[in-house]
This record gives sequence, structure tokens and C-alpha cells, in this order.
Amino acid sequence: MGRPFRFAGDMFERVHRELLDTSIRFDALDISDVSPDRLEVARRTWERRTQSEFRAIQILSRFLVQVVGSGDPIDVYAGVLNAIGDEIRQCALSIGVCQALGIEPTMPKPVELEERPATVDAPLVERALYTAICMLGVNETLSAGFVTDLHERCDDTVIKAVLDATVSREPQRSTLRWRYIELSLLRFPPDTLNHWRAITRAAVARQKASMQPLLDAIDPARPTLEDWPDTDRVALGLFSKERQALVFQRTLEGVLEPRLRRLGLL
Ligand SMILES: [Fe+2]
Repeated sequence: MGRPFRFAGDMFERVHRELLDTSIRFDALDISDVSPDRLEVARRTWERRTQSEFRAIQILSRFLVQVVGSGDPIDVYAGVLNAIGDEIRQCALSIGVCQALGIEPTMPKPVELEERPATVDAPLVERALYTAICMLGVNETLSAGFVTDLHERCDDTVIKAVLDATVSREPQRSTLRWRYIELSLLRFPPDTLNHWRAITRAAVARQKASMQPLLDAIDPARPTLEDWPDTDRVALGLFSKERQALVFQRTLEGVLEPRLRRLGLL
């Protein structure tokens, strides 16, 4: 078992609440009609989300060190700070959902964020662009696709409010992320583009590798998103494996790959 997320309370609670800037009543989440199996899936799913939001706080905090260490323009820092605040908010909201589902979520194990061996000795300016491509560009774009799909369809008051708070600044954040990558690439000689392309391809391939088995397993007679409305799952913010895989494919082909191609990264 990992370490449970904790709250220090006391004087920290006020600033934390200010950051959350929302008054969602988690105890209004009604799970009385949810089957035990579905409830268990919801608990594990939201615990995993809590852990990945926590990882996002860590990765973006390290990214702040990288951009400040690189001497990036001063106004870039505000964008990164806001993004860290957004991830703290999203992590706390996911903890709230877990508690409403009757569990205390735990931190990922190990708690400490591992550095990729390939980047650990690189100059900060390179590590910043590496983080920007892999995490801000590839991973965040794909996860925004998932959250947006849930947000468009969910009508449960509590879960919808959590998704509202999660997507509210996404358009602005997405613009900043891609602009940072574009500007950062200009700092490197043109002949390094192949190196960045290889890093991009590897990041996309890692994501594809996790989804390809789900895509391959989809019933050929039900190949579209309309075939998987997930009507009974979406109230709890859940996906069927099939819908999740198809949303991944839609975001990959419709949003991520065109963006990367425009930057010369694919
Ligand atoms: Fe997040």
C-alpha cells in the first residue's frame, strides 16, 4: 500500500481552499444505485487519476526548475506556475471524488519522481524542451482529449463540476504549451531537429503501445465512438476500454499528430 494523501490543515487549509476556488459538495455524490463491481472500478480509476495528477505536479515543478535554470523569459514562469496550481487543484479534486466513493487514495510508489536516464546529464535547456515535448505536448494533449470527452457527456452534478474545474483553463494552457515548444525549438541549431523528432516519436510510441491492444480488441462490428456511448459509465466519469481507445485515436490523429507535424516534429 502506498502512502495516503494527507492534509496539513491549520493555516495551510485557507490557502489551499483559495487555490481550489470551488465549492463542490462531494458528499452529494449519490452512489447508492452503483453496483459493487462498478464502484470498485470507479474507485481504482479515480485513485489512478489522483496519482497521475500528483505526478503532473511533480513533473511541472521540475519543469519550473528547468525553465528558470535555462534562463527562459520571465513571463514564461507565470504560465508554468499557473499550470502547477492547476495540477494541485486537479489532484485535490480527484482526492475529493475518491473520498466520496469511500476510499482514501494513496500516493504513487515510489513517491519520488524518477528522472529518465537519457536526460539526467543533459543541460537544463535540453531537459526543459524534453519535458515540454513529452509531458506538455504529447501526454497532456492526449489526457485533455479524455477529460474533454467525459466533460461533454457527463451530467452528474458532482462529477460534472469536477470536470468543469479540470477543463476550464485547458484552451489557454494548450496554447501556452505548444507556443513554448515552438519557441524553445528555435534555440537549438536546425540540425538537432532529428534528435527532437526521435524523442517525439518515442513519446508517441509509448502512448500508442499502451492503447494498441485495446484498439485491436474492439469488435469490428462496432468500430466508432457512437457504438460505445458508455451512458451508464459516464455519470461516474468512467470509460469503457473501447471508448477510451477510440477517444485516444481521435485525439492522436485529429489533434496531436497534426500539431507535431506543424512543428516539424513528426
Ligand atoms: Fe492534470
